This record gives sequence, C-alpha cells and structure tokens, in this order.
Amino acid sequence: MVKHIVFGISGFLIVLQLGIFVYKEETAEWKGYQATYYKKLAEVTGNPEIANNPIKVKQIWDKNLNRADRCTTCHAGIDNPAFENEPQPYTTHPNFKDSGYISKHAFEKFGCTICHEGNGQAVTVAATHGVVKHLDRQPLSTPYVQASCTKCHYELHVKEINWPEADVLMKGKDLAYELGCGACHAIRQFGTNAPLAPELSNMGSKTELAFTLVHDFAHIESEDHITRVWEYEHFLDPQKIVPGTPDAPDPKDRTSPTIMPNYDLTEEEAVALTVFVLSLRDPEVENIPAQYFPKIPSHKGFFQYR
Ligand code: HEC
Ligand code: HEC
Ligand code: HEC
Ligand code: HEC
Repeated sequence: MVKHIVFGISGFLIVLQLGIFVYKEETAEWKGYQATYYKKLAEVTGNPEIANNPIKVKQIWDKNLNRADRCTTCHAGIDNPAFENEPQPYTTHPNFKDSGYISKHAFEKFGCTICHEGNGQAVTVAATHGVVKHLDRQPLSTPYVQASCTKCHYELHVKEINWPEADVLMKGKDLAYELGCGACHAIRQFGTNAPLAPELSNMGSKTELAFTLVHDFAHIESEDHITRVWEYEHFLDPQKIVPGTPDAPDPKDRTSPTIMPNYDLTEEEAVALTVFVLSLRDPEVENIPAQYFPKIPSHKGFFQYR
C-alpha cells in the first residue's frame, strides 16, 4: 500500500516537473524575443532606459472584432518603421512604412489573425507558424495570406479589378476565368451556378475538420494533411488525388477517376489557384463587423453578398 502511495506521488512529481519545464521553455521563448526587442529599441532611440522595460504578454483586442491577438508579444517592431532592416520577429511589417497599404489596416484595430488566421492566443513559434496540427484555421503566410483580403474586399473577385497588392490572388482569379472553372463548379462570386461539381463559393471558410473529414489524403505526397496542401496537389494532378476505384472487384463498387481536367499547371499556377479557391469566403461565417468594411470607391455596391 505505502509502496503504491510513494509510487503515485513520485509519478505525480515527475509529471509536475515536466510541466514546469515545458512552461518555462515556452515562456522563455517569447520573453527572450521581447527583451531583445527592447535592447534593440534602446539602441535605436539612444535611450538606455528602454532596455529595462517590463516584459509582458502583449495583446491586441477589439470588442467589435472579438479577437485577441498576441502576435506582437514577439513581433514587437511590426509597426515601427525604424526596424525595417531587422530580422524576424522584430522587423517592420512589409508595405507598412510610408503609409503603405498595410498601414490602412491599423493593427490596434485589425490585429493580425484577421488576415493571417492561425491561433492568435498562442505565444510560441510552434503554435503560431507553419502547419499546426488539429487547428481549424491554419496560419497563412506569403502568398496564402492573400486568401483573406476577400473577407472585406469583395470587389477583388470581379474580372476587371486588378490590385497589384494581391498579385497572386489576381493571377489565380484570372486563371479561373480563363480556364472556365465555372462551367462545372458553382462559384457565387463569378455568378455561375453549374451543378457538375462541388460548389466552391464557401471553400475558404470551411474549417480544417469539415474539409479533412470528407477528403481522401491517401494520394497526397506531403505529410501535411491540411486543406491548402490537398487543393494544391489536386490542381497539379486531379486524377492522381481522386483516382476513383475503376478496378474494384465488385462492379457495384467501381467509380471513375475525377472528370476535373488536368490543366498541366506549373507549381506557381497551382499555388495561385489554391489562393483563389481559399479566397472564396462565406460572409455569414466570416461575420466581419460593418465598421471593418472599406469605404473606397471600388468597394461601392458590394454589400450584396451579406
Ligand atoms: C514566440 C514568438 C512569436 C510569436 C508569438 C509569433 N511569432 Fe511570428 N515569427 C517569430 C519568429 C522567431 C519568426 C521568424 C522565424 C520563423 O519563421 O520561424 C516569425 C516569423 C513570422 C512570419 C514569417 C514567416 C512565416 O512563418 O510565415 C509570419 C507571417 C509571422 N511570424 C506571423 C505571426 C503571426 C500572425 C503571429 C500571431 C498569430 C505570430 N507570428 C506570433 C516569432 C513569433
Ligand atoms: C490586412 C491584412 C494583414 C494584417 C492585418 C496583418 N498582416 Fe502580416 N502580412 C500580410 C500580407 C499580405 C503579408 C505578405 C506581404 C508580402 O509578402 O509582401 C504579410 C506578411 C507578414 C509577415 C512576413 C514578413 C516577411 O518578410 O515574410 C509577418 C511577420 C507578418 N505579416 C506579421 C503580422 C503581424 C504580427 C500582424 C499583426 C500585428 C500582421 N502581420 C497583420 C497581411 C496582413
Ligand atoms: C477586415 C477587413 C479587411 C481585410 C481582411 C483586408 N482589408 Fe484592405 N482595407 C480594409 C479597410 C477598412 C480599408 C480602409 C479603406 C478606407 O479608408 O475606408 C482597407 C484599405 C486597403 C487598401 C487601400 C485602398 C485605397 O484605395 O485606399 C488596399 C490596397 C487594401 N486594403 C488591400 C488589402 C489586401 C491586399 C488585403 C489582404 C492581404 C486586405 N486589404 C485585407 C479592410 C480590409
Ligand atoms: C469538367 C468539369 C470541371 C472543371 C472544368 C473544373 N473542375 Fe474542379 N472538380 C470537378 C469535379 C467533378 C470535382 C470533384 C472530384 C474531385 O475532387 O476531383 C472537382 C473538384 C474540385 C475541387 C475540390 C472541391 C471539393 O470540395 O472537394 C476544387 C477546389 C476544384 N475542383 C477547383 C477547380 C478550379 C479552380 C477549376 C478551374 C481551374 C476547376 N475546378 C475546373 C470538375 C471540374
């Protein structure tokens, strides 16, 4: 009996120690980045006091948007033009300086995950970048982050609109018009209603879980079993990813390979089309508050999707 208790207690202590160790490692990560930022800032400003600024988790929260993003805990120089030539995570946001277009989306109001998705609450590199297992909104970086612009800028799906700021998305949209995807797929944003293939209109607003539950990853090369990887590989070779079961022993079980054409796309074109399909958003799901919609001439009259 005593043996069991001793065994139980020591087991508990080991787990506790491990927990404390993991906790320390993770807090050390962001603390280190923030301390380094203040040291750099002290140099840039010539004010040594700044190096002693208190280290704490930073958060951007806006009650209308109801997101709490802690990315600036590490990306502390994101809105500081003086940090342009510093390495990540200290550097200034691209296209922010000199009233660049990113500065039109004030960070203190927009936060980060409205464009970058991912887990805004997390404060470790592993939980906020790359592929994060079981996360329903995977982090988006260049160029996939352009799939978020259409949450607000609905006009970007109009054929004649061409914004260099969203160049990859524009390329994907042009390809989708050129290749006639709307002949088979319903795409509300293009005004097409074709019933031959799954509707794409809300593709970008599906959760990872909703997507992965109904898609077969058996023929996907990458180990990352997430939506954007499936889409990308499917564009490069639809019949490889959806081969059907033409050789099933029981004729009743036989299905044909997909009829989606193999367009012989380059990798770059497959990325652009992936960004495009992920930009097809469901306004109901995104639920962007009215005050976040742009008041620019090109956006006029685009509330019809809401
Ligand atoms: C623990 C500190 C830390 C936090 C928290 C953090 N980052 Fe980073 N970030 C880094 C570091 C370090 C790099 C550069 C090294 C790398 O890419 O892993 C980086 C790189 C990036 C990059 C460029 C490279 C890439 O992986 O795409 C983007 C975009 C980015 N971060 C966005 C975000 C967003 C958005 C958040 C909040 C959801 C966030 N980061 C939270 C430390 C952090
Ligand atoms: C309006 C949308 C938007 C918002 C809001 C936004 N970003 Fe970005 N971010 C982008 C885009 C687009 C890019 C890619 C820019 C490029 O490649 O020129 C990017 C790139 C980055 C990079 C990578 C830079 C590099 O050199 O690769 C980092 C880091 C980053 N963002 C962090 C953040 C953080 C932290 C926040 C919040 C404080 C944030 N972003 C808010 C759209 C946004
Ligand atoms: C949450 C909504 C939202 C998202 C997401 C968003 N924007 Fe914006 N964008 C705005 C608002 C609001 C403005 C400011 C317009 C105004 O002054 O009324 C703006 C302004 C702009 C402008 C300046 C337009 C002008 O004529 O002044 C550009 C360019 C732009 N956004 C590009 C982008 C790109 C590219 C992305 C994706 C990386 C993006 N935006 C994501 C809401 C958004
Ligand atoms: C000849 C009809 C046809 C054309 C043209 C076509 N597709 Fe498809 N597509 C399909 C069919 C059928 C499927 C379902 C089977 C599969 O996944 O391959 C599909 C699947 C998809 C999927 C996965 C959808 C889901 O929910 O599983 C995407 C994304 C997609 N197509 C995008 C496109 C794009 C973008 C274009 C234009 C470049 C295009 N398709 C052209 C027939 C077509």
